[in-house]
Amino acid sequence: MRVTIKSAEEQQRMRVAGRLAAEVLDMIEAHVRPGISTGELDRICHDYITEQQKAVPAPLNYRGFPRSICTSPNHVVCHGIPGKRRLKNGDMLNIDITVIKDGFHGDTSRIFHVGQPRIKAQRLARITFEAMWAGIREIAPGKQLGDVGHAIQTLAESQGLSVVREYCGHGIGRGFHEPPNVLHYGEPGTGMTLREGMAMTVEPMLNEGRAETRLLPDGWTVVTRDKKLSAQWEHTVLVTAGGYEVLTLGAGPLEP
Ligand code: MF3
Ligand code: CO
Ligand code: CO
Repeated sequence: MRVTIKSAEEQQRMRVAGRLAAEVLDMIEAHVRPGISTGELDRICHDYITEQQKAVPAPLNYRGFPRSICTSPNHVVCHGIPGKRRLKNGDMLNIDITVIKDGFHGDTSRIFHVGQPRIKAQRLARITFEAMWAGIREIAPGKQLGDVGHAIQTLAESQGLSVVREYCGHGIGRGFHEPPNVLHYGEPGTGMTLREGMAMTVEPMLNEGRAETRLLPDGWTVVTRDKKLSAQWEHTVLVTAGGYEVLTLGAGPLEP
């Protein structure tokens, strides 16, 4: 499959899908409290997406994924499966939402702190957020994917954090994961050149310790090998004539 260029009408549908995905995160924030289980968070999001938004939760049955959202606490890097685990004070949790509306995908994730955050978790989450934005700010027609990855890697490594290599951002549109791969590391002036009308996610996963990951036997949950903390944020971004437009802003934290 080739990289797709979205028409003006398709871009409008991407805006709607992106807004809905962000609104799910806005809605679930109040529920992220000590004592709730990740399975309960999944149920609340599933019902909101299907009943209020009349949209489709893209993860459900995607390549066999069994739930409607991904919940990745603490040392889980990504693709955590919601279940019986109950949140406790000091946990850090990434919630990743992807919805399909009118044929198009919107994909976004945020970090939430449960109760009182630990200092190290707060710092990791903040720097990962800044790294995501450093990548997004590189996006413009004529810029290259290596520019995006390099900005993220440089910021992360300057703060002593490591960049996960095995998972990356992606083109997005009618497909959940379209080409190109959007690596969160790289060299400036390398990789695919961006064009107006492309849409992609920027979703760096940064680790407090080493970059290496391990896949749990459930076939989905990715954890850090050294069991240290990992954080992730994600936006869906459109390449515009003037640079970029973030489609999944919602009521989340503003650009730093
Ligand atoms: N939302 C994830 C991403 O950012 C993908 C999750 S795939 C799933 O690309 F199957 F685990 F849901
Ligand atoms: Co994504
Ligand atoms: Co996602």
